Amino acid sequence: MSVGIDDIQIATGHHVLDMSLLAEARGIEPAKLSIGLGQLAMSVLAPDEDIVTMAAAAAAPIVERIDASRIRSVLVATESGVDQSKAAGVFVHRLLDLPSTTRVVELKQACYGGIAGVQLAADQVARRPDDLALVIATDVARYDLASAGEPTQGAGAVAMLVSANPRLVELDAVSGLHTFDVDDFWRPNDRTTALVDGHLSTSAYLDSLEGAWRDLVARGGRSLADVAHLLYHQPFTKMARKAHARLSDLLDGEVGALDEAALDVGAQLGNAYSASLPGALAGLLESGDRSGAGVGMFSYGSGSVGEWMTGVVRSDAGVHDAGVRRAIDGRVPIDVATYERLHAEHSASSEDRTLPRVTTGPFRMAGVEGGARKYERV
Ligand code: HMG
Repeated sequence: MSVGIDDIQIATGHHVLDMSLLAEARGIEPAKLSIGLGQLAMSVLAPDEDIVTMAAAAAAPIVERIDASRIRSVLVATESGVDQSKAAGVFVHRLLDLPSTTRVVELKQACYGGIAGVQLAADQVARRPDDLALVIATDVARYDLASAGEPTQGAGAVAMLVSANPRLVELDAVSGLHTFDVDDFWRPNDRTTALVDGHLSTSAYLDSLEGAWRDLVARGGRSLADVAHLLYHQPFTKMARKAHARLSDLLDGEVGALDEAALDVGAQLGNAYSASLPGALAGLLESGDRSGAGVGMFSYGSGSVGEWMTGVVRSDAGVHDAGVRRAIDGRVPIDVATYERLHAEHSASSEDRTLPRVTTGPFRMAGVEGGARKYERV
């Protein structure tokens, strides 16, 4: 019996800011952002959107296609949590009308949480093959205005259904892991933007990639030299290119080409933290028929945990509509002044308020009542 990803869908924010507008406003050469970082645009949330509304929007089409009573776990991975106690997945569970006979929990380890969720879910369905597990990675990347990290902001959610005998990607049981404690990127509880040592973070990422690869090799995992498609966590897409170059060095040049469709998801959405690597997988599966091809995925979460996860696209998977094009093309462009206003308005406050109706997505946050966040189907 194989276990892996049976379905995958992406969602993002209502707005998009073109990187050339940000470059002009900040007095940066546009080529530094488009070529130096490899970023073309970033998703920006409307005031009535957050990680919960994006997560529900990503998961809704998946839930509509299955017998939802088989979902036994909802694992929401995020580092943009909306509450210190209640799991974001409980809001999503209600918005999607999931059965009460479900385990719901939130996972956090920076950008790595989504892949942690997939691995935990895979272990669950290996033990109980009739179970389905819904894993949703959902995040909004926020740095201070005019900081070096600002052009690497973004937002997105990717929902993945993990099952036995999956229809899309069969995952290998062996993976490669690497954890080490480093202060490269973090967000203390009193901040809504991340703190980062950018150049340390890029070297920590590459060290993690190498360490996780060495573990994969030591455990007899799938050879990355034989894998057709290599995908990377892409905080900015130049980072994925650097990662691919490091892997190429480790394998004496015997690596396949980078997948441009997967990169394009990151270049258009920006960093979606935990949803970034799953977004690359969605882009790969939507952009062509990858049936039978090997896949290698490197996840890095600052702080830090890295993992190489491998698998193979099922031989009859065909082209999968993961909602990528609709998510990218459906956004409403904004100017820099509007983006700056939305950035400043973003608040983790529990003060009661009613939010304006802006998003055209299927779910929205209506406001805060008695300190509790209220969500609704549009
Ligand atoms: P910076 O210091 O402004 O940029 O910030 P730079 O000076 O290093 O330049 C970037 C690149 O642009 C360089 O290329 C320049 O040569 C090039 P490289 O040497 O890297 O190949 N460049 C140009 N290219 C073409 N035309 C030009 C031009 N000018 C310069 N005119 C930095 C860059 C990434 C540090 C910053 O954006 C940052 O701090 N970002 C946030 C941190 C980050 O994304 N780190 C990635 C690794 S950590 C990670 O992935 C985890 C994370 O997702 C969080 C999580 O786990 O939750 C972040």
